[in-house]
Amino acid sequence: MSTSTKQNTGAPRLAKTRATEASASPAQSQNSAPGIRPVRRDDLNAVIEIDAMVTGIEKLDYWNSLYQRYADAVETGQHFLVATHGDEVIGFVIGEVRDWEFGSAPCGWVFAINVRPDARLGGTATDLLNAICEGFRKAGVSKVRTLLSRDNTLILSFFRSQGMMIGPFIPLEMDLEL
Ligand SMILES: CC(C)(COP(=O)(O)OP(=O)(O)OC[C@H]1O[C@@H](n2cnc3c(N)ncnc32)[C@H](O)[C@@H]1OP(=O)(O)O)[C@@H](O)C(=O)NCCC(=O)NCCS
Repeated sequence: MSTSTKQNTGAPRLAKTRATEASASPAQSQNSAPGIRPVRRDDLNAVIEIDAMVTGIEKLDYWNSLYQRYADAVETGQHFLVATHGDEVIGFVIGEVRDWEFGSAPCGWVFAINVRPDARLGGTATDLLNAICEGFRKAGVSKVRTLLSRDNTLILSFFRSQGMMIGPFIPLEMDLEL
């Protein structure tokens, strides 16, 4: 897609959602606007928890390693951002600029985007995607790509809503005998 994602409307949309939801979570009942910022070490437990909610697997080593590679690495094109509401982390996005991989000109890749189930449909993922796309723009790239499971209609609906379309690449794989 081009990087012209939806406009950043996070705070008003989240406020609207919270005001109309009967079963607001502790995060949702706090009286402060959501924000997007680079991840910090003490956000990791919340990130691991959100990922485990979605995947059912708690991957401590994986997230620690990812943190070391991506935190404070904007200069080299890596982005690991969190969405917060009050003191609570309610979502995250991870991606980076990759040069000439798969034969393509430098572009931004979004590897993961997740929002807590009780904080969804408030514009948080839209804000996270807009923020990482802004980072990609600053790095001089004008294209963003991602890869997703064809069974994951939720994430597909989200990316389609942002204007992403099928790209010019085909994923291939095969089993390796061990
Ligand atoms: C997909 C996900 C990131 C969306 O987060 P979110 O904060 O709820 O998204 P937004 O509120 O910004 O939604 C933006 C748009 O996405 C689409 N969308 C989001 N959730 C949707 C749903 N449940 N059904 C249909 N469309 C949906 C809508 O078009 C929505 O716009 P609208 O509210 O104006 O209709 C979130 O549902 C999530 O974390 N899902 C699990 C992600 C996952 O499987 N990750 C693993 C691979 S990385």
